[in-house]
Amino acid sequence: DVQRTLVLVKPDGVARNLTGEILRRIEAKGYRLTALDLRTADTPLLEAHYAEHVGKPFYAPLLEFMGSGPLVAVVVEGFRVIEGVRTIIGATDPTAAAPGSIRGDLGADTGEKVQRNLVHASDSPESAEREIALWFPS
Ligand code: CMP
Repeated sequence: DVQRTLVLVKPDGVARNLTGEILRRIEAKGYRLTALDLRTADTPLLEAHYAEHVGKPFYAPLLEFMGSGPLVAVVVEGFRVIEGVRTIIGATDPTAAAPGSIRGDLGADTGEKVQRNLVHASDSPESAEREIALWFPS
């Protein structure tokens, strides 16, 4: 199926000047960018985005990190793009992420409570539609 997914180049990715490198890998795989916005996310948006993580030990540091500077929100379209982009990104833990993946090649493990792992992508069609509506309400 042709799907849409929400990708966020997180504040660490933008701060490290890796936005182009991250989006290059997604585009080179054949996926299309259909909306893109550089902004600093406010707390209500991040609370809505990360509602499923309330109560986890990394929740408060996660919200602080994600609001700490500009990020790039992108809608990406393509055949099986939800699974495909998550494969390109690699595992949550940058130390465990496979070489060849974005996190495996570029992710620095900082040992902090929250993984500053460069990029987010929706994990299911339901998450994708929910997240796209949050980040791109128009
Ligand atoms: P993301 O795909 O944006 O979804 C939730 C985020 O929380 C995740 O990327 C990481 O940044 C962070 N995260 C998830 N699990 C853990 C964990 N076990 N330890 C630290 N941070 C985590």
